[in-house]
Amino acid sequence: MHIVPDRVKQGSTNIIQNMDDWRRVHLSSMSDPDTFWLGITNELIDWQTPPTEGLVGAFHSIADNQVSWFADGKLNATISCLDRHLLTHPEKTAILWEGDEPDDVRAISYRQLHSDVCRFSNALSSIGVGLGDRVIIYMGMVPEAAVAMLACARIGAIHSVVFGGFSAESIANRIEDSRAKVVITMDEGLRGSRKIPLKNTVDEAVQSVSGIETVVVLKRTGGEISMTEGRDIWWHDICQNMDDSHEAVIVPAEHPLFILYTSGSTGKPKGEVHVHGGYITYTAFTHKTVFDLREDDVYACVADVGWITGHSYIVYGPLANGATTFMFESTPLYPDAGRYWDMVERHKINIFYTAPTAIRALAAKGDNFVEKYDLSSLRVLGTVGEPINPEAWDWYYDVVGGGRCTIVDTWWQTETGGISISPIAPATPVIGGSATLPMPGISTALYNAEGQRLIGPAEGLLCIEHPWPGITRTIWGDHERFVNTYFSTIPGLYFTGDGCRRDEMGYHWITGRVDDVINVSGHRMGTAEFEAIIIEDEAIAEAAVVGFPHEIKGQGVQAYLIMKNPSETYSEDLAKRLNLMCRKSIGAHAKVDYFCVIPGLPKTRSGKVMRRILRKVAEGDPSNLGDISTLADPSVVEAILTSKRY
Ligand code: WTA
Repeated sequence: MHIVPDRVKQGSTNIIQNMDDWRRVHLSSMSDPDTFWLGITNELIDWQTPPTEGLVGAFHSIADNQVSWFADGKLNATISCLDRHLLTHPEKTAILWEGDEPDDVRAISYRQLHSDVCRFSNALSSIGVGLGDRVIIYMGMVPEAAVAMLACARIGAIHSVVFGGFSAESIANRIEDSRAKVVITMDEGLRGSRKIPLKNTVDEAVQSVSGIETVVVLKRTGGEISMTEGRDIWWHDICQNMDDSHEAVIVPAEHPLFILYTSGSTGKPKGEVHVHGGYITYTAFTHKTVFDLREDDVYACVADVGWITGHSYIVYGPLANGATTFMFESTPLYPDAGRYWDMVERHKINIFYTAPTAIRALAAKGDNFVEKYDLSSLRVLGTVGEPINPEAWDWYYDVVGGGRCTIVDTWWQTETGGISISPIAPATPVIGGSATLPMPGISTALYNAEGQRLIGPAEGLLCIEHPWPGITRTIWGDHERFVNTYFSTIPGLYFTGDGCRRDEMGYHWITGRVDDVINVSGHRMGTAEFEAIIIEDEAIAEAAVVGFPHEIKGQGVQAYLIMKNPSETYSEDLAKRLNLMCRKSIGAHAKVDYFCVIPGLPKTRSGKVMRRILRKVAEGDPSNLGDISTLADPSVVEAILTSKRY
């Protein structure tokens, strides 16, 4: 256990300074959530009509009604992120951007960001985007991606950012599901000097579906692309002659701010809906509290805006808090494995937030890349996205943090909107591998598979008992799926999909997903998505995909294949073909690491695949298969155990 170093505590004005504060604040958030959150939102957020109402609804009645927070209030989240800072610190850097090449740096002040967003808001209005319209954003990590998000929000439109690694088919699915009418993209992305053909991919997506009226294209590389007459328009052209002031459209608290698609156990990705009032309150509060944000901090989250971490902790939370938020276009390995630490030194970064995958990959490159740089500006180190193994945690703490920083291992999800279980930087003693304690407003509970609540130290299914302002309100267009996905495993509670162990101190140790979601390098993917693609191949009769522990990526992907022709075996051609299909259907980040041809899937007599067996074998833990007596043909287990993986 590491107590918080003194230099992390010095100068903190956090509402939680020590563990007594944590108990007091957590208790007050539980005993009177309305008063607690109304107090927080009225302090942190700029409301045009301040709310008097807290929570309406409850998880046990969520099938009948969505929950709401602050429903009688009116605001626009971008006023908190932009306009109000013009009165107090207009020249402060809002976005500090570093491009693919280390010398490509831009510091954008709050005044400038406000003008840019206003201009683009006017531009979007001029092409007919209005209240409630959906807009897809498919861009690299450039400041204009944040401008595009904020401009949509400012006019009351609903953005849906699609990570730049996703394929044309994935974009098309999201266009169809959200019924978007505009796509904002750029000519090419740039990562590690490699060009990513974003506009070409959008062209392919837009051709395959109907409904897109306009594609707005930012020029980043100047690479060769084709512009479709009457549909495509350059960012710089529509912004020309646009006014740089714009009055934000005031919306009710529960007006959708964005839809973000995420993978689940079954079916297509789900469009998680977040709303102006609750989301901006929760991200601002958690960003300020967990990281113990100070006035002059340079705060860096090196995630991508295509994922929830980028939404909540590069754009909305930090800007609502008037922070300087760093945005990074490149990769941690370009030009070499010292890139992050070089940036920390040059920009004097105080708070640094990344994922265990990156930490493991960089640790494997050796300490030299870290030790070259002056990292004395660092105060708080964050991690998110997957469980962090103790070795990686120790390396982050000792080598990067030099024992002078504290680590916040933040557990949360696309669905929770913001950090839900985490240390609070100046207060919580930390221990490698534990996300420690729930945030104010979050009451966790552990259940066993039989639906019994577990008391005291225990391991079970991680649930949350009561709504908090940041929780996603519904799945876009399918509230029933929302209810079935999250509120049916343990009726009346939000089930996270994660397993968790709680120790004697009440600290939480996340053990990973217990459903059919896999987490590869922090990228969340559904095994069902892979399977649906693989069985499209003419040689494949059936397939089952599971995750397995991977040293760097956290989890890797293993596919079990049953061939139509039983004499056919594994071949490199087959592997290449299937991986190409996954890449084309899902995106560049979807790759099967191992293939394993087996004679049949382990099915129960009622035909259900016992995925547990496949998972255990892939994990290299075949001694512990559990009860296999209900299998229709127990002999397949032997065949699975002896089959080779490639
Ligand atoms: C996993 C990312 C362990 C977890 C913000 C969760 C974590 C999923 C942690 C959500 C953590 C996230 N420790 N596991 N600190 N943070 N996870 O929606 O399995 O992309 O359910 O949100 O990531 O992934 P998502």
